Amino acid sequence: MNYAEAEKRLKSCGQEHVLAYWKKLNKTEQTALLQQIATIDPKSVKYCQSALAKGAEVPDSSKGRAPKVAVLKGRKLAEAIAAGEKELKAGRVAALLVAGGQGSRLGYDGPKGCYSIGPVTGAPLFYFHARKILARTIRYGRAIPFYVMTSEANNAATVKCFEENDYFGLNPDDVFFFTQGMWPGMDRDGRIILDAPGHVFMSPDGHGGLIAALKRSGALDDMKKRGIKSVFFFQVDNPLVEIADPAFIGYHILNKSEYSLKLCAKRDPKEKVGVPMQFGPTFRMVEYTEMTDEQCNRRGKDGQLYFLYGSPAIHVFDRAFLQREAGKAMPLHLAFKKIPYVDAKGQVVKPAEPNGYKFEKFIFDILPNAKVAAFLAFDQKDEFSPVKNAEGGDSPATCKADMQAKWKRWLAEAGVEVKGDLPIEIDPAYAVDAADLRRWGLCLGAD
Ligand code: UTP
Repeated sequence: MNYAEAEKRLKSCGQEHVLAYWKKLNKTEQTALLQQIATIDPKSVKYCQSALAKGAEVPDSSKGRAPKVAVLKGRKLAEAIAAGEKELKAGRVAALLVAGGQGSRLGYDGPKGCYSIGPVTGAPLFYFHARKILARTIRYGRAIPFYVMTSEANNAATVKCFEENDYFGLNPDDVFFFTQGMWPGMDRDGRIILDAPGHVFMSPDGHGGLIAALKRSGALDDMKKRGIKSVFFFQVDNPLVEIADPAFIGYHILNKSEYSLKLCAKRDPKEKVGVPMQFGPTFRMVEYTEMTDEQCNRRGKDGQLYFLYGSPAIHVFDRAFLQREAGKAMPLHLAFKKIPYVDAKGQVVKPAEPNGYKFEKFIFDILPNAKVAAFLAFDQKDEFSPVKNAEGGDSPATCKADMQAKWKRWLAEAGVEVKGDLPIEIDPAYAVDAADLRRWGLCLGAD
């Protein structure tokens, strides 16, 4: 793109000020700015502006009902596992990881997936995800292609982490990296913010950016070519997740579902998780901020919370559903943040108060479009302990403790008692569940 093309593009969406400092930039900075402008789609700019004009509309959730959530046991559980295993043995299951977030609460300088979490080995989050996929690949004899969404900011470091670790044992041909989109930040008037005279402030377009990125990158075509039907979606910060869990895959298949969600009982009525609600024939994820106090605390006749279940973002999608959604616009969510900007004198200012908007799409906004959705309960302590904060709740310390408590339960089931505070870690490729440990008749521990 040259200067004239850049100017034309910016004019078409009222953002000519992006070139205000052009003459003060050196050649390298000018080239970089032109490259950045080439990635800014005027249609997207107008879409952000219209979201801004609408403001942070809070949808009315007062008529929402709690959806029917299955708790699988006995014969039903066995049937779901059998159906899931059939899909895995036929090679119709893929794993899809969103790892493009900025991890600002954790404050780690690098992709969150490279963060060391192994209680004994210090292995990174990516290790636990990849090794679980490897374990199921070995168990079922068919590859589970692994699609990893990164952002422009962390793609190179993510790929390097996989390369340096020999893809954690996975076949590189079955690992597909793709980057999500970036949106420019805007001030209250819908003007794009420059965070340096030659640089537009951009941020990742949210985990919902996944849908467009899957299409743009060719990942969806790749899934189709490989005969994938079910796509297991998970987040990078939860090493407890049971990736491609046969029971969940099977439940999804048996229900002919397009979008299935694993849900766990909230730890407290106001826990900061999305709550799926039913509105007539469709479902929608209601954010905790949208729920009234009455809704949060409402109880059924059994004394249980009426809106008991929250979503830890563990989903299975039908591939064809993702394909159908890929061409559609998704709603934008606004986050009012402190964004560095260039003042009238060309100086960069770090504001003390929020001054601009970031725009994000959320994956669960496609839930209302699913013709069939299914909800499956699971026990939070077994599958969900995210690393969100540096300290306190949902931190590396709580996550490591939860990982070890889970392995201790497995070992106890296999007849091994772990005494005291001995740190333990089990390579998921060695045992992906307690049954594996029993099968091997051995266990690994720290010495
Ligand atoms: P979070 O909402 O927890 O955000 O992401 P985050 O960026 O990791 O952390 P904070 O909020 O800055 O502290 C949940 C999941 O969605 C992914 C993250 O990588 C994580 O797996 N995500 C989030 C993306 O892939 N892209 C995004 O733009 C945002």
